[in-house]
Amino acid sequence: MPCPGKMGVLLPFRSPAMPRKLFVTTALPYANAAFHIGHIMEYIQADIWVRTQRMQGHQVHFVGADDAHGAPIMIAAEKAGKTPQEFVGAIAAGRKQYLDGFSISFDNWHSTDSDENVWFSQDIYKRLKANGFIATKTIEQFFDPVKGMFLPDRYIKGECPKCGAKDQYGDSCEVCSSVYTPTELKNPYSVLSGATPELRTSEHYFFKLSDPRCVDFLRQWTQDGRLQTEVANKANEWLSGEEGLGDWDISRDAPYFGIPIPDAPGKYFYVWLDAPIGYLASLKNYFGKKGLDFAAFFAEPGVEQIHFIGKDIIYFHTLFWPAMLKFAGYKTPDNVYVHGFLTVSGEKMSKSRGTGLSPLKYLELGMNPEWLRYYIAAKLNGRVEDVDFNPDDFVARVNSDLIGKYVNIASRASGFLVKHFDGALSTWRHAGGGEDLSPMTFHALAAKDAIIEAINARDYGRAIRDIMAVADFVNQKYDAAKPWEIAKDPAKREVLHDVCSDAIRAFAVMTYLLAPILPRTSERIAQWLGLATPLAFADIDRVPSAVKPYEHLMQRVDPKLLDALFEPPAQEKVIPGGEDLAAEIKIDDFSKVDLRIAKIVNAEHVEGSDKLLRLTLDVGEGRTRNVFSGIKSAYEPADLIGKHTVMVANLAPRKMKFGVSEGMVLAASHADEKANPGIFLLDPYPGAQPGMRVR
Ligand code: 2FM
Ligand code: ZN
Repeated sequence: MPCPGKMGVLLPFRSPAMPRKLFVTTALPYANAAFHIGHIMEYIQADIWVRTQRMQGHQVHFVGADDAHGAPIMIAAEKAGKTPQEFVGAIAAGRKQYLDGFSISFDNWHSTDSDENVWFSQDIYKRLKANGFIATKTIEQFFDPVKGMFLPDRYIKGECPKCGAKDQYGDSCEVCSSVYTPTELKNPYSVLSGATPELRTSEHYFFKLSDPRCVDFLRQWTQDGRLQTEVANKANEWLSGEEGLGDWDISRDAPYFGIPIPDAPGKYFYVWLDAPIGYLASLKNYFGKKGLDFAAFFAEPGVEQIHFIGKDIIYFHTLFWPAMLKFAGYKTPDNVYVHGFLTVSGEKMSKSRGTGLSPLKYLELGMNPEWLRYYIAAKLNGRVEDVDFNPDDFVARVNSDLIGKYVNIASRASGFLVKHFDGALSTWRHAGGGEDLSPMTFHALAAKDAIIEAINARDYGRAIRDIMAVADFVNQKYDAAKPWEIAKDPAKREVLHDVCSDAIRAFAVMTYLLAPILPRTSERIAQWLGLATPLAFADIDRVPSAVKPYEHLMQRVDPKLLDALFEPPAQEKVIPGGEDLAAEIKIDDFSKVDLRIAKIVNAEHVEGSDKLLRLTLDVGEGRTRNVFSGIKSAYEPADLIGKHTVMVANLAPRKMKFGVSEGMVLAASHADEKANPGIFLLDPYPGAQPGMRVR
């Protein structure tokens, strides 16, 4: 069918006659935790874009994988009593329910701990080496003598060299924000064992990012207009900083969960080297399953490689990654699309804990995943801005816009068509000369190109505003025609037929445009209206000719669901030991209590007391404290000597019958001690040292 001609100049978009060949990825999540809402937001963003490309007739390979390697995962596995492979395997097994639940249309999900990734990582490394981009240097680093391993910066703590704040990480101070190296910390200790780390030397491998060939290439690649302005500016700052680009340390010493470096016994690639290579590994794995030729794909002209990522990993994706690929003779990325963070009611998310919005709970509550896809789309634009999830805004946008404006068109107009016309639509009369009998359909079709362009540019917010403007137009035209009145007048039968048919046709056009955002709903609508599936933009003006009786397309959001979504998990509300929880406190209230690890250097009975033991405690102060504790019924003094426990160290000294007590040790007991006897002193994990603060 011809496209309406009178709509003026339409924005160009590539015709399916020259399909793009796209390789699209999202950042690979660390395989040490379930997905949080930040991951899901990125996947939804990428999925909408990918579906839009597919609907334009382009060919897309969309892949993800778990980022499995590195010290934190190795350590977490050890704590969980699993091998790293078992540990990441268990995490991987939990991925599908999220990806299916939110209709993320990955073609493949793989792992960086895979044969393909070993092969590509080693191949890239060998080529970089052959081309003169690898150097070695002996560096001094902290070594944990108890654990027998070199410590990553995050596993060393100590006093900040600048402001003296205690218990700061090895790379930066959370109090004064200064950045330093772990060796500058005062009184450093290993987070893993509590031991004082020793400086040891080790040979490390470096990728020579400072090589002029690298710098030249990156200046060009980052500044040629492909990147978002904010991202290009960031890259430019790094490239033009006083010190320039430093060489990148890509090796780690055993024990390490990672990929061995060829011809370097005991050395492994740092996780960030093999992580992005996992994109290629996943694609290769997918091609293997499909019987497609990987080398041939990358040899094709015009293949585009696009990575969706968050703003925290720009450095890796705009400097290390393109440079690695370039100087190994691989295809370089065509673009990196960067998004901001997701906040919930303005609160920043923690990388490890996520936000209070659990995507799994969302699904388990039976909330419609398309609500979230729609809401996130409505909030996203093509810039690196944070996106806020606000529960009230969520309810309003879904109920008033998505359902109130769009879905309602279907239910309102189809009723008359089924009742008076057996579901048949009137013939679609194109505009041009004479009376315009299908203004709603024309309006929707005229908006099409700009909406697709907005999605191509990742400005989904604009696309949704445009779609809602079409919905407003359709609703106004429909209301102005008053079908509920003209339905009573047999003389107006034809007008009624045209108005309702036009509304349904416009609804069908809007359904195509919303399909990348609402894949399941659009699928159902396609069945209902008899549209060809999978929906393709090339078919958008093949309007439906009949409707079946209306079936409910989408439920409104009950605001109570949002309350349930943000309610703390049930186990937090269980009353432990039958005792009511104390009144809620703020973190500041808690910090007033100074809890310290104490070593019990002596314990003895107290003459004349049948309850108390006298404890002599070392809390790292260079003196000991005397503390009376009512634990005589539970412990033999001899069994306590040499043990560690936890004490309240800033409790005002108390004068007791037997002497002054300078603090209190912590022990658990049942509310009704008579019915459930037992007192249990707290016992920290091995490694805790006297004087360490418990927080
Ligand atoms: O920051 C992260 O969560 C990393 N796991 C992202 C890796 S993206 C790619 F390089 F694999
Ligand atoms: Zn500091």
